[in-house]
Amino acid sequence: MKKTTFLLLLSWLSLFAATAQKNIQIKHQPYLQDMDSSEVTIVWIADQPSVGWVELAPDDGSHFYQQERPRYYDTRNGIKRVDSIHFVTLKNLEPGRAYRYRVYAQEVLQQQSNRVFYGDVAATAVYKQAPLRFVTNNPAKQSLSFLMVNDIHDRSDLLDELLDVSDPATKDLVLFNGDMVSFLNSQDALFDGFMDCATRRFASEVPMYYCRGNHETRGEKAPDFQRYFMPGSDKLYIAFRQGTACFVILDGGEDKPDSDIEYAGINCYDDYRSEQARWLESVLNSDLYRDAPFKLVICHMPPFGDWHGSRELFEKFVPLLNDAKPDLMLSGHLHQKQIHPASAEVHFPVIINSNNDVLEGEIIGNELKIKIKDRSGKQVDEYVVKH
Ligand SMILES: [Fe+2]
Repeated sequence: MKKTTFLLLLSWLSLFAATAQKNIQIKHQPYLQDMDSSEVTIVWIADQPSVGWVELAPDDGSHFYQQERPRYYDTRNGIKRVDSIHFVTLKNLEPGRAYRYRVYAQEVLQQQSNRVFYGDVAATAVYKQAPLRFVTNNPAKQSLSFLMVNDIHDRSDLLDELLDVSDPATKDLVLFNGDMVSFLNSQDALFDGFMDCATRRFASEVPMYYCRGNHETRGEKAPDFQRYFMPGSDKLYIAFRQGTACFVILDGGEDKPDSDIEYAGINCYDDYRSEQARWLESVLNSDLYRDAPFKLVICHMPPFGDWHGSRELFEKFVPLLNDAKPDLMLSGHLHQKQIHPASAEVHFPVIINSNNDVLEGEIIGNELKIKIKDRSGKQVDEYVVKH
């Protein structure tokens, strides 16, 4: 047998062996990130290296199969990305409008020079069950409801219970306020720990905004955090408007000094918080923040206490926030409920949610009402801001 024939046969045999394996699957269902009034990023995870795309359809009563829907590919610099983690940012959407979507992954079996061998295709259902659906943010919306959980620390069952108490399907958005895992050592840690529960319960259709906690910064996969959350964003600190509220989501970093033995010399959070403070100053002076009737700041660590991280937040963020007068800061981290009214040092109230409760927020007219409920559904506290 000639050498070239033999090599071709070997190539086809390896291709056949690859195709004989089980079909590609969507391993972790899609979830919405960075929702805004004109954009949303959709993230999904396949179980094989693949190319990915989203089909988008208006929510106009037509069958998804009525016509070919436009495709938006997961690309970078003009090339479809071959990866198991996919994301697509859909742009030029209309505010307050409902859309339907379907995600795809097509396995890439082999690449040889400029030849690409594709395998099977997997997609989310649109026939056996209703297509996935989302509604873009709408600054003209006069009411707003949200829920917040934090410090779940891999307790997916607890998250499930808290979502029974406070139904995310009835909310405009969900906040994950940090420490959803204890260590980010693997993709499985994220999805077993809380994300599979989140997508099963709401995250494919209700936007989730993730404020990174100090524990998501720990573990060998911690640098990959943004491959899964806010992958279309420049940074992990963001601001957005929904209804009458502007949300400013901060990333407080770690709680101990960067040189602490626990961080093995890998952290640079002092510089990160300084850089973030410059961004915070600009966002607090923006129309996005100033024009919003209600202003909420989300930060995993509260700016109280004598630990280095909290002291940094107090020194670098609080003076800017004191000038900008937010209605409320929502935090976690301490694993106990605390409500701090505005004081001479911190000129705005700070509500710290415990690690076992769910916090609900509702804005109707000129009133923001916060309710905190335990895992049995009993309301354990309430706080009202009136304008
Ligand atoms: Fe924490």
